[in-house]
Amino acid sequence: MSPVAKPLLDTIRGARQARPPLWIMRQAGRYLPEYRELRARAGSFLELCYTPALAAEVTLQPLRRFDLDAAILFSDILVIPDALGQEVRFEAGEGPRLEPITPEGLGKLRPDAVLERLAPVFETLERIRGALPPGKTLIGFCGSPWTVATYMIAGAGSTDQAAARIFALTQPQAFAALIDILVEASIAYLVRQFEAGADVVQLFESWAMNLDEQQFRDYVIAPNRKIVEGVRARIPDAAFIGFPRGAAAMLPAYAAAVRPDALGLDYGTPPDFADRALPRSLPVQGNLDPIRLLAGGPQLDLAIDGIIAAFGNRPHIFNLGHGILPQTPIANVERLVRRVKGG
Ligand code: CP3
Repeated sequence: MSPVAKPLLDTIRGARQARPPLWIMRQAGRYLPEYRELRARAGSFLELCYTPALAAEVTLQPLRRFDLDAAILFSDILVIPDALGQEVRFEAGEGPRLEPITPEGLGKLRPDAVLERLAPVFETLERIRGALPPGKTLIGFCGSPWTVATYMIAGAGSTDQAAARIFALTQPQAFAALIDILVEASIAYLVRQFEAGADVVQLFESWAMNLDEQQFRDYVIAPNRKIVEGVRARIPDAAFIGFPRGAAAMLPAYAAAVRPDALGLDYGTPPDFADRALPRSLPVQGNLDPIRLLAGGPQLDLAIDGIIAAFGNRPHIFNLGHGILPQTPIANVERLVRRVKGG
């Protein structure tokens, strides 16, 4: 019996579809009333991430509403620092807060405890797998080491990542040790995600901008490459979507060295540039500006059509170029799905 076709996974494997398959970064979340309702009952955000029945339910919410081609595990990139033993809190309306890591504090991290602490995440994946219709792709993920390190070092999000960039340049040994810990934890975490049912995993390098060429090679390319190679050493056909947000002119170097199966493009990347700069066989994902989705109307249709046309000669997964915004009207998401599906 041949396995059921999964249009999104098949695209990642290199098979172009007549209409691009579609998922939406951060598709489970606050723009959905059913998420806000469940979130209010769940206690803290991390409790929601670590309660398999609720996390699986939240994962499936957007698929019930929209005809999306993939589910993405409901979790967060900051479960890794949490599982390593660094205190992580999510303050309502303020974003994540961590106890900033110091060179001396590195020794207190507990890499050996990570898989045990993340056991609920693997149970969530098993539950989603069991409930997901056969044609749908299940996406797992983790944050890439540099992006996770920016939160661990600053103790919060920042627009310029200055704390982490200064730490890397003034404490190079401690920084390298931190990145190594994150690389190893991420490999172990992703291998278990595949074993629990993920079809593909996305590496979220949300802060790949603001780095010079050498920093990009050292902090972004090298660790992501180690993760891909480390996972493939254990699962040879493990599929990856790399998403180095803000990589700009470094995109081709990232693709060539990290060797993801598909490359996620942020909305600042001109489709024509990406199409010319990347090998024709490399599937791409993206790259609608989330503000266009929020604003809606005819400009949205034009932008969607332009992206689909620009990637008409290669495998393409339609997505936003960054996460959906909480204020996005549901009707605009319905309009997007209809348009991409050709309805
Ligand atoms: O639907 C999905 O995409 C799956 C779930 C998911 C979440 N976060 C849920 C979440 C995924 C894939 C992430 C990834 C993530 N988390 C990234 C990379 C993607 C990106 O947007 O760049 C980053 C940088 C984080 C860290 C993070 N988590 C921040 C900065 C915040 C606060 C800002 C915000 O959007 O609220 C979070 C919290 C978070 N993660 C929420 C959700 C649904 C909102 C928290 C809540 O509901 O109270």
